[in-house]
Amino acid sequence: MSMKWVIVALATTMLAGPALAAGPAAGGPDQATVEANKNKKEWMSQGGEREEALTLKPNKDNGRDVYEVCSACHMPEGWGLVDGTFPQLAGQHRSVIIKQLADIRDGHRDNPTMYPFALPSEIGGTQAIADVSEYIAGLKMNPQNGQGEGTDLELGAKLYKDNCVRCHGEAGEGDAAKFYPRIQAQHYEYLIRQYRWIKEGKRRNSNPEMVEQIKNFTDKDTKAVLDYVSRLKPPADLVAPAGWKNPDFQ
Ligand code: HEC
Ligand code: HEC
Repeated sequence: MSMKWVIVALATTMLAGPALAAGPAAGGPDQATVEANKNKKEWMSQGGEREEALTLKPNKDNGRDVYEVCSACHMPEGWGLVDGTFPQLAGQHRSVIIKQLADIRDGHRDNPTMYPFALPSEIGGTQAIADVSEYIAGLKMNPQNGQGEGTDLELGAKLYKDNCVRCHGEAGEGDAAKFYPRIQAQHYEYLIRQYRWIKEGKRRNSNPEMVEQIKNFTDKDTKAVLDYVSRLKPPADLVAPAGWKNPDFQ
């Protein structure tokens, strides 16, 4: 089955569900804007849904309803998959989730798998972004994320300290005010994929200062530093007990 049909099949299943919260598609980028942005490399766009969503008062109940469609891939707990196909979202800074969703919706970040499910016609307008990001940010994190091989952690620690701490923080906690993502305890394979795409310019909404910082990293460096990152521990109060199931979707 081609990816297209997987998506169509998934979409049909989801649309049949009673709890889909597709309100009137107020807000959201128009098609011309999306097409124009697909040619851009831009880390921080001006205006648009990111800025607007940050000014809206979030409704967490609606956020939970919106999240139902997301849970098909990111899992009910927001933990993604250990193999990195789907990233962990739980515990991510709300500002970062808002930025990434806005970037995906308006063409600044390519995500063909997810794009059809994130459209205003599917989940609602800018308010839906404000709501679902509030819900996701409050989910407790996976205590057993995917990690690397553990063979080069000393090198990883040194590279991390010299190249990453100034933005992602001592423990990979990121910085909500600056839209720097939390990367601690993210699945190793997802970290590897994003890191390579950022380095190669395939992730067009990446931060140019980070691209500059990592341009001389070898494959060995990349694996070592991201193995180290995957083992960084979030504060205990952000982490769920092993085996926790999200009661909102039982
Ligand atoms: C069909 C599967 C699928 C669905 C449904 C889906 N996503 Fe995703 N999502 C993905 C994939 C795959 C990625 C990673 C893409 C990549 O590697 O660049 C992703 C990435 C993301 C990211 C970026 C994470 C990061 O670390 O930068 C956010 C935020 C996100 N999704 C939120 C959502 C929300 C909110 C919904 C529901 C409205 C949703 N997703 C629905 C597949 C999906
Ligand atoms: C100048 C600040 C800066 C530096 C230095 C930096 N980063 Fe980043 N990093 C960012 C920002 C900002 C993003 C999010 C970009 C976006 O919005 O798409 C990011 C994204 C990432 C991502 C993708 C996260 C996700 O959830 O999709 C990974 C992985 C990452 N950085 C790892 C690192 C590592 C490892 C280092 C050090 C070797 C590093 N970064 C150095 C600012 C930085």
